[in-house]
Amino acid sequence: MPDYQSYAQGSPLEVKVISKRFGLPNSASIDVFLAHEGYQALVKALKMTPEEVINEVKNSGLRGRGGAGFNTGMKWSFVPRQSPKPKYVVCNADESEPATCKDRPLMEYDPHQLIEGIIIAGYAIGSHQGYIYIRGEYRYLMEILDRAIAEAYQRGYLGKNILGSGFDFDLATHTGAGAYECGEETALLNSLEGLRGYPRVKPPFPAVVGLYGCPTVVNNVETLSNVPAILLMGAEAYAKLGTPKNGGTRLFCLSGHINRPGVYELPMGFPLRRMIEEVGGGLRGGKKLKAVIPGGSSCPVLSADQIDVPMDFDSLAKIGSMLGSGGVVVIDEDTCMVKLAWRIMKFYAHESCGWCIPCREGTAWLQALLARFHSGGGLPQDPDTALDASYNMLGKTLCPLGDAAALPMISILKKFHHEFEEHLKLGKCPFEKNGTGAF
Ligand SMILES: Cc1cc2nc3c(=O)[nH]c(=O)nc-3n(C[C@H](O)[C@H](O)[C@H](O)COP(=O)(O)O)c2cc1C
Repeated sequence: MPDYQSYAQGSPLEVKVISKRFGLPNSASIDVFLAHEGYQALVKALKMTPEEVINEVKNSGLRGRGGAGFNTGMKWSFVPRQSPKPKYVVCNADESEPATCKDRPLMEYDPHQLIEGIIIAGYAIGSHQGYIYIRGEYRYLMEILDRAIAEAYQRGYLGKNILGSGFDFDLATHTGAGAYECGEETALLNSLEGLRGYPRVKPPFPAVVGLYGCPTVVNNVETLSNVPAILLMGAEAYAKLGTPKNGGTRLFCLSGHINRPGVYELPMGFPLRRMIEEVGGGLRGGKKLKAVIPGGSSCPVLSADQIDVPMDFDSLAKIGSMLGSGGVVVIDEDTCMVKLAWRIMKFYAHESCGWCIPCREGTAWLQALLARFHSGGGLPQDPDTALDASYNMLGKTLCPLGDAAALPMISILKKFHHEFEEHLKLGKCPFEKNGTGAF
């Protein structure tokens, strides 16, 4: 197992709420967890009514850390608690968005924090069964989670009549096979049911018709890991850590051409410029900044003059991008943006599940165009054609994978149009001395 230092070199600017136990010896064990406030939030929650728990989470301003940023308490309140059907909590541990690597340390170093969050979510929505759907490549984490789940059963935090409250809750892990699409909540539910990981039509949303047709809350690992802290510190104190309507902290995965890459827990709304310069120690080799991917590869790319922005959902939306899954990629002046677009599109073409034609054909077609264009075979009309094709994918598919491919493409075509022009003028990539820059 990699040690904690391989994830983060740490920064004095961090505010550690959900990563505070990272780095403690044997932090994944239940004894260490119990010695550091573990399962205290569950004790508190079980003395509250489910409605009170939901309101506390709603008022904390916690928004989904999986990408879309929907208010978590609000999502829980959509579950029809009076329905006679069983209800489910599904933890999305697919962590498949490129540049995102924060659910991994949460499961590796503090699995009980996640388990506690899931049990509280179950209590809040009236569920007695939870699943952690984990990507195939994270098999070693499944062993850590299974061990932690077994410990929680032994100590009475899972199973029948939890802590004498009369509340029953069971939890199991389930592995995927490593498909990006299976991180999308409805494709995930299909995969969990043993079906092919194709997305479902929404509405109905999973909160009403989810796993096995029953009301289901799907939440990201980081989202659920925040729930114990919210109950312990109170909604108001948690909300105050961040910006209005964007409560708490966020695990940012800082990568790319940066001196100190790593996973850092910073308050929601932390300025991007300070994240790059102070937390990340600036660009490698003193290079100039060209662009930033602010929240995983599906977000519109920011240009260097857009980094004076608070890193929260609403501020990034205002400048036409997204906070997404917290994967911040710093890109230096030597990077070819055409090649970057090609690399991103290659991923989406590979990962498109093929169910919706605009996504299946659009991603494959765009990646072929970009490969040809980057290697010197570009046509003057290609950038316009690529823009047109991207707009024809946007909002035209059952799940947002088509959007995830189109949005970065559109932003690169618009903000870095001059790089496409230079490729055309030179008849080759201006950033690469030799070859076509194949990956
Ligand atoms: C193609 C695609 C892949 C996704 N992958 C993930 C993922 O790996 N992990 C995740 O938590 N959410 C992922 N999502 C978002 C989920 O559909 C869903 O919004 C999320 O799990 C809800 O949890 P949250 O409200 O806690 O963020 C993905 C969405 C799409 C469209």
